[in-house]
Amino acid sequence: MKSVRLTIDGRAVEVPDGTTILDAAMANGIKIPTLCHLEGVKDYGGCRLCLVEIKGSPKVFPACTTPVGQGMEVTTNSDRLKEYRKMALQLLLSERAHICSVCVANGACELQSLASELGVDQLIFERDWPELSVDLTHAYLVIDRNRCILCTRCIRVCDEIEGVHTLDLMLRGKETQVVIDLNENWKNATSCTGCRKCAKVCPVGAIYVKGEALSSTKDKEVAKFITERRRSAFE
Ligand code: SF4
Ligand code: SF4
Ligand code: FES
Repeated sequence: MKSVRLTIDGRAVEVPDGTTILDAAMANGIKIPTLCHLEGVKDYGGCRLCLVEIKGSPKVFPACTTPVGQGMEVTTNSDRLKEYRKMALQLLLSERAHICSVCVANGACELQSLASELGVDQLIFERDWPELSVDLTHAYLVIDRNRCILCTRCIRVCDEIEGVHTLDLMLRGKETQVVIDLNENWKNATSCTGCRKCAKVCPVGAIYVKGEALSSTKDKEVAKFITERRRSAFE
């Protein structure tokens, strides 16, 4: 396969054509913050945490959905990008009721740890939290839509890895929410296999397993692991 040479933060790297900037950076030990990205399922560029600059363009680009180009000069950590990332987190925190002290994910939450890592210590946007439903009907899975950041990791893992597409999005704007089997209670969702993959990959405390510590039920690597096992079975 053709390879592409570029620089990321001044470092020369060479990767196969078609690689995303995010994968090229990760393969070369350069960390770019992400939230909606989940290795093993398709990217859709929703959270805007992974924004990078490309020399010659005034725009910023999501690293997870932008392919590398020959001779590209990519910057991943300018002051402008740091401000944009903080703003993206502040928007997420102002959109839903993220009160860490009473959240099951406290201490095991990617939103919380990124906010801390990127220096988000106050909200510059007015809080506008809708009152959304919590579904406790399933024998062991819970969804609290008030904590959801709409990253769609659960939807993509359920669709692309488990292959049942129980989950999807309903409505638009601030009312957007994850629904189960066309807006059923979880206990009535006939398509759900109960595999827990959605709970494993949810980055916050929105989908979780009742009565189990989140730190032990999370497994961000599950989609990557299954995808690689499937690929190796066909090689
Ligand atoms: S438990 Fe498995 S099948 Fe059910 S919604 Fe979650 S990922 Fe989909
Ligand atoms: S429930 Fe969790 S994984 Fe699903 S969209 Fe919301 S935050 Fe993302
Ligand atoms: S990780 Fe790229 S937009 Fe979310």
